[in-house]
Amino acid sequence: MGFVSGGFMYGKVRGVDRAVCGRSAVRAMAEEWTPVGTVEELNAEGGKKVVKIDSGKVLIKEFAGDVFAMSNSCPHLNLPLEGKILKADYTSTGSIVCSAHKTAFNMKTGDVVGEWCPGMPKLPFVGKMKEENPLKVYPTKVEDGSIFVNVA
Ligand code: FES
Repeated sequence: MGFVSGGFMYGKVRGVDRAVCGRSAVRAMAEEWTPVGTVEELNAEGGKKVVKIDSGKVLIKEFAGDVFAMSNSCPHLNLPLEGKILKADYTSTGSIVCSAHKTAFNMKTGDVVGEWCPGMPKLPFVGKMKEENPLKVYPTKVEDGSIFVNVA
């Protein structure tokens, strides 16, 4: 639960008919925050965890006192960044590095940092199998120690 400007209280508002409810509903949909636990819990889990929001898996990561949220699916081949076998690396400059082919992504912007798939040879006809794409990232906020993610 939260508030948008004007004091309108909202919760889950997906599916609200824009024509019926107008500007308040549109503003509420853009401000849809999902609680994903507390900073204390995140730190107890080593500063990272994967949560399921709607149909997607979101990686929550603490870095330098901030909390970042990003898709747990690498945009190269959709492999998990943090999974049972694959474990991402993190740089001191705020990037996450996919363990499969070593693409680094800025955790704040999702932009590729450096070379696309440096750990994968360029294959005949298919290159590195997929064009360069950014990692999907999501806004976060922390209120009274609780973390919220906006995946709208
Ligand atoms: S699957 Fe992540 S870089 Fe290839």
